[in-house]
Amino acid sequence: MCGIVGYIGKREASPFLIEGLSKLEYRGYDSAGIAVINNGELKVSKCKGRLANLEDRIKNDPVKGTLGIGHTRWATHGEPSDVNSHPHTNTNGTISVVHNGIIENYLSIKEWLIKKGYEFYTETDTEVIPNLVDYYYKGDILEAVMKAVSKMEGSYAIGVVTTEEPDKLVAVRKDSPLIVGLGQDEYYIASDIPAVLNHTRDVYFLNDKEFVLLTREGVKILSQDGEEIKKEVYHVTWNADAAEKGGYEHFMLKEIHEQPKALRDTMTSRIIPGKPIQLDDITITSEQIKNIKRIYIIACGTAYHAGVVGKYAIEKLARIPVEIEVASEFRYRDPIIDESTLLIAVSQSGETADTLAALRLAKQKGARVIAITNVVGSSISREADDVLYTWAGPEIAVASTKAYTTQLIAMYIIALFFAQNKGTLSNEEIEEIKREMLTLPEKTEEVLKTKDVVQKFASKNYMHKDMFFLGRGLDYAVAMEGSLKLKEISYIHSEAYAAGELKHGTIALIEPGTAVIALATQEDIYDKMVSNIREVTTRGAKVLGFAFEGHTEIEKTVDLARYIPKTLPILAPVLSVVPLQLLAYYMATIKGCDVDKPRNLAKSVTVE
Ligand code: F6R
Repeated sequence: MCGIVGYIGKREASPFLIEGLSKLEYRGYDSAGIAVINNGELKVSKCKGRLANLEDRIKNDPVKGTLGIGHTRWATHGEPSDVNSHPHTNTNGTISVVHNGIIENYLSIKEWLIKKGYEFYTETDTEVIPNLVDYYYKGDILEAVMKAVSKMEGSYAIGVVTTEEPDKLVAVRKDSPLIVGLGQDEYYIASDIPAVLNHTRDVYFLNDKEFVLLTREGVKILSQDGEEIKKEVYHVTWNADAAEKGGYEHFMLKEIHEQPKALRDTMTSRIIPGKPIQLDDITITSEQIKNIKRIYIIACGTAYHAGVVGKYAIEKLARIPVEIEVASEFRYRDPIIDESTLLIAVSQSGETADTLAALRLAKQKGARVIAITNVVGSSISREADDVLYTWAGPEIAVASTKAYTTQLIAMYIIALFFAQNKGTLSNEEIEEIKREMLTLPEKTEEVLKTKDVVQKFASKNYMHKDMFFLGRGLDYAVAMEGSLKLKEISYIHSEAYAAGELKHGTIALIEPGTAVIALATQEDIYDKMVSNIREVTTRGAKVLGFAFEGHTEIEKTVDLARYIPKTLPILAPVLSVVPLQLLAYYMATIKGCDVDKPRNLAKSVTVE
């Protein structure tokens, strides 16, 4: 995690550095800092807490100069504190570095450098970088960074400046994202595109172990062997407004409301009535699809929950066995993978370290990889064999909402595409599902109108310490996502439970007044779900239940019933998750939590 930025040009660097960091604050926000070079002197300003603290500091003590780097931190090594904040500087105070990632062998490098006379003042892994660069510095900062990087293990995106060469900014990445922004006589580095979007739409995506030298005259990209690399400029077409709040109080609320559009965009040109599903970005052949023996869906967090729905959809529609697993477990358990395996990696950011590592493991063992991601040019999109983009637009709130529902759409598209190729569904069956999918944006708009009811429920229940989310089948998959949303932004402990499993232990936790959210959209198990709800209401639980319109039986058991527009049960998650997102949002805002930047979290998890 962490966000880094850098600027070289003719204007003052610090306004861009602060603005760029504000666009990257979703990547980490426990401290921030900048380093700027002016008249051969390095000035560093950094402090614990939100970026606003740094802005105040700079207002009182301006940082002048036209070359600089900046950092917003999500602590891994060393608590959030002024001293542990980036940028970090070498013992002599001539070289400054911002870093996103983890230097795994930093302890051995540190011991080695201490023996050479270097001094260390922080608990961070990053502090070894400026000192190692200093050790190798013989008058050429690019060469020194190259040598230093060759000794470093782990993940990094780094930006380096030195007082010795005040006309150069050097950067490099491995397993952490980094882009280069191309302006007019000014150039930028950043962890993500929104940081530079007010200044340029032309960017380079860097690959692992590519070095970039930025001067006021231009940008040079080099391989680790020093060979110059020619890159294509990527022109960003989406609007900077997409990453602004647009009148909503929080990004999360805005992104919840953007879901109808995001769903529509993700289906556009892929789901067309009467036409076979055509996936221009997917090259897997019909023959290859028929030869798939096993699919692994690998992801983390919310993307994992989308994968749970994906498993149901692919198995049901395309009749291929699917295992769904969190990436951090999958990669370390020696899974059975061969050429007949397909791995589907799901990741909003396309940069999640564990998901990327799982993808690499699968490829190494001969599997084919399809990525579902929201970020064009992300590491996962570049390393997968095929990519199915979710067209959700930038998701800024740490809690994922529109990424999840568009990932569900991507899962249905893949399931239908496989079914079409394998002939496991008739054309009529495929057309029926497609027709229903196309109604989902409008139905989501309907669901969004029920927000007052959810808000009211939240205002009566926000004081609970625990909550339960119950469901069976696909409703259980959605319950998991609803529970995660609530936990991460409102800090209320909650558990999602497969409703039929409750009586095997967990029901002991139900007592008079326990708040329970029950989902009952799956028609074939509706009666069973109603019985499960009765099991908790009998023990005094207060239940808010969701079912399809017309399924009023639920009213006999719950305290409050809400209905969502009817659709095919397999598509229900797209609609039923929306009130749960709103519930988490209102619970958190009523409690006064920082919804967009919940404690201890960051949006893009680029450490394992
Ligand atoms: C929760 C949330 C996280 C992410 C997870 C994976 O709201 O956003 O659980 O889903 O960190 O991130 P991506 O999808 O970027 O790989």
